[in-house]
Amino acid sequence: MFESRPFVTVVLAISLDGKIADRHHSPARFGSAADKHHLETQIAQMDAVLFGAGTLRAYGTTLRISNPELLQQRQAQNKPPQPVHIVCSASGNLDPQLAFFRQPIPRWLLTTEIGVQQWADQDRFERIIVAEQSGSIDWKTAFQTLATLGCDRIAALGGGELIAGLLAAECVDEFRITVCPIILGGRTAPTLVEGAGFLEAIAPRLELISAQTINQEVFLHYRAKRKIGNRQ
Ligand SMILES: NC(=O)c1ccc[n+]([C@@H]2O[C@H](COP(=O)([O-])OP(=O)(O)OC[C@H]3O[C@@H](n4cnc5c(N)ncnc54)[C@H](OP(=O)(O)O)[C@@H]3O)[C@@H](O)[C@H]2O)c1
Repeated sequence: MFESRPFVTVVLAISLDGKIADRHHSPARFGSAADKHHLETQIAQMDAVLFGAGTLRAYGTTLRISNPELLQQRQAQNKPPQPVHIVCSASGNLDPQLAFFRQPIPRWLLTTEIGVQQWADQDRFERIIVAEQSGSIDWKTAFQTLATLGCDRIAALGGGELIAGLLAAECVDEFRITVCPIILGGRTAPTLVEGAGFLEAIAPRLELISAQTINQEVFLHYRAKRKIGNRQ
């Protein structure tokens, strides 16, 4: 762990059985209109949103703020209309024809020495941050760089592999999880946290801040508990 990194909020919708997509890794469309509004409201508070390449490959686009009140709110806070949208990809293997690259948003790439190579001569990303540790992202370097670039608050929007890496690096401060009334099942369907998993004895622990029910969904807000000696 390290000091002076951005505050990171994980925002995701899950099925009752903890899946974030079905076994085809389809884009998750099972949240209600209330959940979409909740997601947009969270994004509107951020300097940047971060998502894994798998999520971008599934959706092809990213969620822009379109609600006029939220846009007005950002303007009143002297924030740009849209947060920076940061794709995390070790390989850099992203289809430049994705609709994402035509969306009117600031786009950054967080990648490795290998990943940066195919984006060297391009104008699709405004900024490319290389922060590598053994072929994966070095979160300490990445977040220190992001902090110096004005990213004080970041929403991590999935998927499960990205969230696993952030948790392992102790870089998650809170979770905003919507539990949706659907069961997806399937051993290959992605869950909220992928990766190797944590043994119970040393698993990240959380503290419930609030639980709100809107129609059939439950909106949970959990804060990550810090290990002694780490950032409070
Ligand atoms: N329910 C929801 O709210 C929600 C939200 C978002 C996504 N989803 C679903 O989640 C699924 C995608 O999740 P996923 O777990 O398969 O993929 P993911 O976490 O979105 O993306 C995984 C990819 O991101 C890059 N990456 C992630 N962590 C990395 C790290 N620590 N270091 C280097 N690169 C890293 C790698 O890209 P490269 O392969 O390019 O190296 C990796 O293959 C989709 O089906 C999507 O529909 C659901």
